[in-house]
Amino acid sequence: MTRVLSGIQPTGDVHLGNYLGALRQWALDQHEHDSFYCAVDLHAITVQQNPEELRAKTLETMATLVAVGLDPEVCTLFVQSHVPYHTELSWLLECTVSFGELRRMTQFKDKSTKQGDGSQEHVSAGLFTYPALMAADILIYDADRVPVGDDQRQHLELTRDVADRFNSRYGETFVLPSAAIPQIAARVMDLQEPTNKMSKSAESALGAVGIFEDVESIAKKFKRAVTDSSNEVRFDFESKPGVSNLLSILGAATDRDPELLAEQYTQYGALKADAADAVISVLEPVQLRRSELLADPAELDRIIARGAQKACEVASVTVRRAKEAMGFLSPS
Ligand code: AMP
Ligand code: TRP
Repeated sequence: MTRVLSGIQPTGDVHLGNYLGALRQWALDQHEHDSFYCAVDLHAITVQQNPEELRAKTLETMATLVAVGLDPEVCTLFVQSHVPYHTELSWLLECTVSFGELRRMTQFKDKSTKQGDGSQEHVSAGLFTYPALMAADILIYDADRVPVGDDQRQHLELTRDVADRFNSRYGETFVLPSAAIPQIAARVMDLQEPTNKMSKSAESALGAVGIFEDVESIAKKFKRAVTDSSNEVRFDFESKPGVSNLLSILGAATDRDPELLAEQYTQYGALKADAADAVISVLEPVQLRRSELLADPAELDRIIARGAQKACEVASVTVRRAKEAMGFLSPS
């Protein structure tokens, strides 16, 4: 059976981009694979976090994983820091990846220049070495497949390169993983600035749609979505980013092809209204499941504890294998 792993940072509010680009895919194919999904709290601290908020967000993210339809009886849901082997393997991989490779990561360049005075002087070293930890998250579960949005493509390529280098230096140790990026909505754009991806740190509150937002507010954001002045519905991200974003959101939410959908519309207003309705109908059951779950905290604690145990069982074996291959003396 194919082994799958992915992760989401427990920061900010989970938005429609996270859902259509990643979480929904995770839930759709959970029965076909042996899946591991985690809240990557160790990645969250690459930028400074408020401790109470991190704790609350981590719990909330775990509730979100269940709410989007991941069944804890079917897949392993866990908190990254509950499996200490990730940080152990991360060090071995930090010593395998090169400085030049890390320096070329666009996510590092973006995030480091957005912080402070833009000089990169005060960003954490962890923000720089982050891809080694992400590679460890993946390789430690012998994952074949990593379902992520388009923004993680470069990190996945690096993970493969690092695994390949490790294997050729020390012998076959790691499985080479592939990215599984959805065909539609792999990059959901901001509704107000459709040339920027929708993100947890959106400039305008109207640009990002939270998956737990009330439905009136979701409808309002779609109604106010930025389009353009030509009033022609066509799927073309280059010249019509706003309209194309709405078409791909509607396509992803209804499992239809955005190009074919474009032919059915002559007015932006109708497209916006249909996109809002489609999004609301996929999110309503998710919202309902989350409120049920938050009403039963003991159940969530049980899911988290069981996930940590299952994840540790797999991760400990891989780390032992990697350490032996690299030449560490086994403890007697
Ligand atoms: P993050 O919130 O950065 O931890 O991302 C969690 C998952 O959501 C990753 O697989 C990302 O690739 C995906 N993702 C984040 N933003 C978007 C977006 N705007 N469109 C599609 N996928 C996204
Ligand atoms: N870097 C990913 C993001 O920012 C989150 C992540 C961490 C991840 N470890 C992972 C995704 C392992 C997939 C597999 O979205």
